[in-house]
Amino acid sequence: MIVKEGRVVGYGRTQDGGRPHAERVAISMAGPEARGATAYVTLEPCNVESPRGCCAQALIDAGVSEVHVGQIDPNDHTNGSGVERLRAAGITVHTGLCRSEAEDVHKGFISRITQNRPFITLKIASSLDGKIAAKDGSSQWITGEQARAYAHGMRAGHDAILVGIGTALADDPLLITRVPGLTHKAVRVVLDTHLRIDTGSKLVQTAQDEPLWIIHAEDKDNKKQQLEAAGCMLISSEDMSVSSVVQALAVQGITRLLVEGGAGVHTSFVRSGLYDEIAWFRGDKILGEGLPVLGDLGIESIAEALMLERVESVVLGADTLDIFRKKG
Ligand SMILES: NC(=O)c1ccc[n+]([C@@H]2O[C@H](COP(=O)([O-])OP(=O)(O)OC[C@H]3O[C@@H](n4cnc5c(N)ncnc54)[C@H](OP(=O)(O)O)[C@@H]3O)[C@@H](O)[C@H]2O)c1
Repeated sequence: MIVKEGRVVGYGRTQDGGRPHAERVAISMAGPEARGATAYVTLEPCNVESPRGCCAQALIDAGVSEVHVGQIDPNDHTNGSGVERLRAAGITVHTGLCRSEAEDVHKGFISRITQNRPFITLKIASSLDGKIAAKDGSSQWITGEQARAYAHGMRAGHDAILVGIGTALADDPLLITRVPGLTHKAVRVVLDTHLRIDTGSKLVQTAQDEPLWIIHAEDKDNKKQQLEAAGCMLISSEDMSVSSVVQALAVQGITRLLVEGGAGVHTSFVRSGLYDEIAWFRGDKILGEGLPVLGDLGIESIAEALMLERVESVVLGADTLDIFRKKG
């Protein structure tokens, strides 16, 4: 955002696909009004020399006199040097304004840069007694309408939604984001070692309009061509381990991943420790026997229990949502 004499003269966000950066959008809106103005940026302006330009230099060229930076960019090419470049040009720079909000906004980007993987949220919808499906495998619907609408809102905040082939076969889900007024299309990702996915499934049938990536290791039944013709993108993985899957997604530019299950997939993610948050919706039903949220984690005693920190709780009609963050 660019402010002059108490008026917002330009604002912008980094555009889909990562370019142009927010600074350039705001500068172009402000035009000559940027001269002598104050810029507020959530992330340090980049200091990379490329044909697409360097945002620190763009702010210098636009003539801003002051810049407030929420968070330093940990990318090697910038990491403080954007701020130095601005200061060297005589611009007054303040850092740390609304830092925790900025960190929250950038958590996916930061995770990709610093951990080579997206920020990962496991989304679970369970009965009151911790089951994600009834004895017959049915799971629709464990939670009510309000919780499901909230879950669609969560999808809108993610680049990709991931399920295992067990869920794809059992539920034939669409995994699209239904939020009135929003056109966000998260990439749908299925972990499917042997390409067992049904070519007539809703996922495959909608792949021309809604991106569908299938991570697989083999193609015994020669389905690859047929799936590609249907619009699916196939990504091969040698071992299908969680670490190689999330790295492959980071390479494709995914910064925020919502893992929607089922039990096998959630268990793998928790076992690997490769997650940041758990969003746990709990309905008002008791199912008794059924599919538990998680399988074996190799935990033998209470002393070995995984410890999480509850950071948010929301009541959604008859259901609750608790957000837990991994400790440490
Ligand atoms: N209430 C909820 O929140 C919720 C959400 C989703 C699903 N569900 C329910 O959960 C049930 C399905 O769960 P599920 O455990 O059978 O299936 P799943 O977790 O959806 O898929 C597991 C399968 O994914 C494949 N896979 C590939 N790579 C994997 C990896 N690294 N880690 C784990 N799995 C990997 C494996 O099959 P291959 O070896 O063939 O690749 C594995 O058997 C259904 O009843 C569904 O309704 C409930």
